[in-house]
Amino acid sequence: MSQNVKRVLVSGGAGYIGSHVTVELIEAGYDVVVADNLSNCDMTCFEGVKKITGRNDIPFEMIDCCNAPHVEGLFSKYKIDAVIHFAAFKAVGESVAEPIKYYKNNLISFLNILDAAKNHGGCNVLFSSSATVYGETDKLPVTEESPRQPAMCSYGATKQICEDILADVVRATSAYGDTVNAGTSALGPVKGIALRYFNPIGAHPSALIGELPRGVPNNLVPYITQTAIGKRECLSIFGNDYPTPDGTCLRDYIDVVDLAKAHVAAVARMLDGKMKKNYEIFNVGTGRPVSVLELVTKFEKVNNLKLNYKFAPRREGDITAIWADTSLANKELGWKAERSLEDTLKSAWQWECHIAGK
Ligand code: WQD
Repeated sequence: MSQNVKRVLVSGGAGYIGSHVTVELIEAGYDVVVADNLSNCDMTCFEGVKKITGRNDIPFEMIDCCNAPHVEGLFSKYKIDAVIHFAAFKAVGESVAEPIKYYKNNLISFLNILDAAKNHGGCNVLFSSSATVYGETDKLPVTEESPRQPAMCSYGATKQICEDILADVVRATSAYGDTVNAGTSALGPVKGIALRYFNPIGAHPSALIGELPRGVPNNLVPYITQTAIGKRECLSIFGNDYPTPDGTCLRDYIDVVDLAKAHVAAVARMLDGKMKKNYEIFNVGTGRPVSVLELVTKFEKVNNLKLNYKFAPRREGDITAIWADTSLANKELGWKAERSLEDTLKSAWQWECHIAGK
């Protein structure tokens, strides 16, 4: 690695969003270290990243970010200029049933990353947050100033708590001088950006990386594609009696490649010294509300297939509607979602066909 190439540590980088971000970072000229304990994924996407980028030299560190010495070791081994922290559990339903598992994993892993970053000369930290922090609100679209509502599940609570932890650590370490990152034992400032994702969907156009949920998918689009390919019998649309145009819930579905590009823009903002505050928050969505039924119908149309679905009772914990005001990210990050919903739904189907060997 030449001296002036910046290196980004991607924790949870073998996962769905982490692998797409790794591709975009490498294609933007960054060096990347991927750390993952493979608790929620296998190496399929990491192998896909190597094929897409043509890079077989991407360091992969199989570590659990809850293990402080392992995280510390990463910062001693590599000169790390920025960290993107994805390593977390994220199943909403599971988090209601197993709060201790979620608080331990999602909080301890992030605390270890922040502690090591502070102790190694400081670092730029990009946190994978979620629109879940907004909860149910009737003031739509939500801006970054919209109040956070009490979390509906432990998963959402960990996202809110981690945002607050990051803000506190940024404030506390701002007193440290700006030391050169990495490898130094000096204390250094931590600067941070939280990206609040709306609903990430789709796959890389190569169909070499995508979402690989373990077991029965919780999320809508993987359940749709698995139904379409025959892995699932029938899609249940949870509730068609909501106060929305067609009775089904409204969400802001953001293409995963667009989402990945927002991470590259945020990393550049931090490394190029363009931040206006030491801790910033951005909504990452399309600003376009889409209903469940609209998405199902569009999926059928663009992929020229018929989906077996039925209307079922509402799912506990679901909110009626949420979509983003993305003007801050558009302006400050110079980023905007570009991929059409049609292309995103085509990519989701192509990925499902790829993993089914079709
Ligand atoms: C979307 C809509 C369901 C499955 C969650 C997390 C969020 C983010 C994305 C991580 C809802 C309906 C779903 C199904 C259905 N995760 N649905 N049948 O709940 O909006 O957000 O995942 O970043 O943080 O909270 O996403 O895809 O589960 O649901 O009708 O089989 O699809 O009721 O209206 P959600 P989802």
